[in-house]
Amino acid sequence: MLIIESISDLRQAVREWRSKDLSVAFVPTMGNLHAGHVHLVREAKQLADKVVVSVFVNPTQFSPGEDFDAYPRTPAEDSEKLRSAAVDLLFMPSVAELYPTGSGLTTFVEVQGLSDELCGRFRPGHFRGVATIVSKLFNLVQPDIALFGEKDYQQLLIIRRMVADLDFPVRIRAVPTVREPSGLAMSSRNAYLTSEQKEQAAILYRCLCLAAEAICRGDSDFDRIERQQIETLQAAGFRPDYFSIRRESDLVPAGQDDSHLVILAAAWLGKTRLIDNVRLTRS
Ligand code: PAJ
Repeated sequence: MLIIESISDLRQAVREWRSKDLSVAFVPTMGNLHAGHVHLVREAKQLADKVVVSVFVNPTQFSPGEDFDAYPRTPAEDSEKLRSAAVDLLFMPSVAELYPTGSGLTTFVEVQGLSDELCGRFRPGHFRGVATIVSKLFNLVQPDIALFGEKDYQQLLIIRRMVADLDFPVRIRAVPTVREPSGLAMSSRNAYLTSEQKEQAAILYRCLCLAAEAICRGDSDFDRIERQQIETLQAAGFRPDYFSIRRESDLVPAGQDDSHLVILAAAWLGKTRLIDNVRLTRS
């Protein structure tokens, strides 16, 4: 596995593959890799001749006061996991390599509308940072296909929209959420949880499943379902940001005629912000 830190070395490696007509799959990450990330990588191996993974904790998607400094960084463990998964190239640039002008960056990519909803309401500027770094990485890696987890469902839709609107020549592949046996979605931020909180955290997924089951049984009072689950979360010690039933295709609040839905939630447990979602089809 090549471990590359500079843009020029990355471009060189990709150019060599391209000259041999080899296809490239790309998995962008912020590291502290867990089984969810590894699942994306294994899927990528099936889809292209070469697999590139990036590990970069992207400062522009964190607001002041968020956990950029505390975000877990485990480069040695990450590269070992990626080597075992037979990744071809690990791109691990420094902040200065990707943002040489520091906070003087003046060009951003912004997917309006979709970025202002749900997590965007509580993390202003977050999705602008995500869209900007993913654009930069797409320009550097020039992948044929890139893989994203459904765990970050809003992010996935934003990337799909950006790729469509800006004509990036890349296919986006969604990968289902990998969970702990308890149902808790795997996440790098789970590292912040105590073992007791980790058990408690599984309640978030249970609330999403309860809401989905109610809708599947024919309950169509979405407002009441949302309110009930917010109360359940509060009673279980969470501080919910939102619990919301949306249309799967574009995250518009679900109406009575919609059949393909996604229920999304974000909630704080102590100092840890957890997000999760489930999708369902109403008959
Ligand atoms: P990060 O949180 O490291 O996630 C990297 C990728 O792994 C994302 O596509 C995410 O949806 C996916 N992922 C995370 N947990 C998962 C799980 N339990 N099951 C399946 N997939 C999972 O998302 C980011 O980094 C950043 O915003 C990034 C896109 C890299 C831009 O900086």
